This record gives sequence, structure tokens and C-alpha cells, in this order.
Amino acid sequence: MSLPIPGAEAAPIRLLIVEDSELDFDLLTATLARDGPPLQARRVEDEASMREALERGPVDAVLTDHNMPRFDSFAALKLAKAADPDLPVLVVSGEMSEDLAVAALHAGADDFILKSRLFRVGPALMRSLQAAAQRRAGRAAAAALADSEARLRELAQHLESAKEEERRRIAGEIHDDIGSMLTALRFETVALARQLQQRGVDAPRVPLMLDLIGQLVAASHRIQHKLRPPVLDAGLVAALQWLVGSFAERTGIPARFESNRDDVPLSGDGSAALYRAAQEALANVSKHAHAKQVTVQLFVSGQEVSLEVSDDGVGFDPELLRTAPGFGLRALLERARGLGGWAEVSSTPNGGASLMLSIPVQRDAPASADGGRSEDA
Ligand SMILES: Nc1ncnc2c1ncn2[C@@H]1O[C@H](COP(=O)(O)OP(=O)(O)OP(=O)(O)O)[C@@H](O)[C@H]1O
Ligand SMILES: [Mg+2]
Repeated sequence: MSLPIPGAEAAPIRLLIVEDSELDFDLLTATLARDGPPLQARRVEDEASMREALERGPVDAVLTDHNMPRFDSFAALKLAKAADPDLPVLVVSGEMSEDLAVAALHAGADDFILKSRLFRVGPALMRSLQAAAQRRAGRAAAAALADSEARLRELAQHLESAKEEERRRIAGEIHDDIGSMLTALRFETVALARQLQQRGVDAPRVPLMLDLIGQLVAASHRIQHKLRPPVLDAGLVAALQWLVGSFAERTGIPARFESNRDDVPLSGDGSAALYRAAQEALANVSKHAHAKQVTVQLFVSGQEVSLEVSDDGVGFDPELLRTAPGFGLRALLERARGLGGWAEVSSTPNGGASLMLSIPVQRDAPASADGGRSEDA
């Protein structure tokens, strides 16, 4: 709201004055008009007429008498704040009572003015209008921030899905194009080896070629696994088992996987998020932790599916994440929030690190019977 500047051309301040005495109303408006900005004042004296005036609006501020035959300042205050919590309300009372003043301020009044000290009303009104404008601006800024955070989260979620989709597509092309050609090449090379053998030709390079083809097939499988988490094919539990097993094999760090269920009630996005989180946490262990051991746990409860990856390595100060250049953990925290869940990193220097991530179960995803599992890799 723009505030009228005294002396400048300004829109009049629209006051709603709750007052049973016409004389007091005239005195109040005359005092305000004397050296203040232009006003438009309307008098009401009971609940129904005040409600109607607020509904009709617009009202910039309410000034209310305390004691009226059919109404009082507390009821007026309640009505005004219900219409607009930021609307300034000043109690202007003939009754000199400290208790009353304190009670009015506690109930949300912006100020309490005695009718015997009416000279205070103009400055108090301007102050409360300014405070209300600031409250409104603060609320609007907070709402805009929340809105932009929600949109950012949505965008992050969309990007994750798009990335996952793109990886899936590339994995599919490697499988269909390169995979089928490698199979054909192996077939032809085996046939060539047989022909050469039948003709008695010694060709020591052919077994080497077959070995290279075998390595190419293995490499293409590895790339496909990385690109397309096997979650969607085999389920999250089996995929995590495979991930933990291959981590231990590759790094030599003993890794243990535990789960209290065989299947998890999650959507494809939810499963992919947990799988990628475990992948990132394990990559962090191998890059940063110098750990002797890692544990990956998956727990399904009534409401949520939780993943915890903990190590006994060098640890770090999680506060440093705010300024750390890496993006892995930050992306992971955002992704969990985007799915309506949460994630937390706890660690102390030399005390190991633990990542916990939890997302709500999807009610319509198929849940299966309990079947505890535990596996050392
Ligand atoms: N398990 C861990 N043990 C010790 N330090 C860790 C561990 N996990 C993360 N950190 C610390 O937290 C920082 C941030 O991790 P994050 O995964 O966000 O980034 P990064 O691994 O450095 O890079 P990126 O993941 O983007 O490739 C790391 O640089 C490292 O200092
Ligand atoms: Mg990382």
C-alpha cells in the first residue's frame, strides 16, 4: 500500500470508526483532519454495521471506542482482524485503565489511546499504517519466496525425471544397437575360427579377438547398468543389493546391505530417487571417507521408506555443505523434498558419516509381504 505523504496530493485514508457517540466521532475526525492527511471516515456502532462496512470496504484502518451500549472494542478487534489480519486497529477509549490497555494490545490492537489525550491519535494512526504496510510487504515477500522455492523444487524434480528418462533411452539404444551388433560379431568370429580350424590354418589372433569382444560385451553391460538402474527391472531391494555388492568388489571396502522388506511400495520415481541416493552416498564414501566399512539399510514402515548409508570414515562438518562446491548431496536433499520427503546428513570429523533419506510410501504402489533380508557383500 502506498502511504499518503502529508502535504502532498494523496488518496484519503479510509477509516472505519466504531463509536456510539456522534460528538466523540466529530471530535476524533476533526483532530485527525487538523494536521494529518485527508481522510474519509465512516461511523458504525454495532457488529452488524461494522461487518457490513468491512465487507463493502476498502478500509485502511479501524479506530474503535472501548465501551458501547451494543458493542465493545474486543469484539470489534476480532471482527477487523478476521477480515484482514494486517488491518490496523486502534482502541480509542474514555476509560483510563492500564489493565484494559494491556489486554487490548494483547488481543492484537496496534495502539491504545485515551480520549483525554487525543493529540496522540494522528501519529499513532500513521505509525500503525506504516507497520501494516510493512507486514503486508513482508508477507507478500515470504509468499513469493515460498512460491519460487516450490517452483524450483518442481523444476528440480522435472529435471531429475528427464535425466532418468534420457539415461533410460541411451541405455536402450546401447542395448539394441551395439548389443545386437556385438552378438553378431561374436557369432561371426566364432564361425571364422571354426572355418580356419577346419582348413588347418593356425590363427592365434582369433581367440584374442574373441576375448576382446567378451570385454566389449561386459563394458556395454556395465554402461547400461550405470545408465539404467536395474530398479525398474528387478525392484529396489535387488537393485540395492547389486549396487552394494559391486561397490564392495570394486573398492575393496566391506559393505553390508539390510532391508526389512523384499519389495517396497514406491513409484518408479521414488525407487529411482532412493537408488540414486545410495549410488551418490557410496560414491562419496569411496571418494572422501577412507572408510573401513559401510552399511546400507532400507526400512519400510507404515508411512515411509527410509534409506540410510553410514560409514566409519573420516567424516566431515555438515555445515560446510552450504559452501562446498560439490553438488551430489545438495541435489539429493532437493530430490527427497521434491518427492514430499526429507533427507539429512549427519557427521562429525573422524566420526564417520551417515546419510538418511526418507520418502512417503505410495498408497497405490503394490506392497508385498514382509520378508527380512540381510546380506554381506
Ligand atoms: N561419506 C563422507 N565422508 C567424508 N566426507 C564426505 C562424505 N560425503 C560427503 N563428504 C564431504 O561433503 C562434501 C560434499 O559432498 P557432495 O557429494 O555434495 O559433493 P562431491 O562429492 O564433492 O562432488 P559431486 O558429488 O558433485 O561429484 C564432499 O566434498 C566431502 O568433503
Ligand atoms: Mg558426491
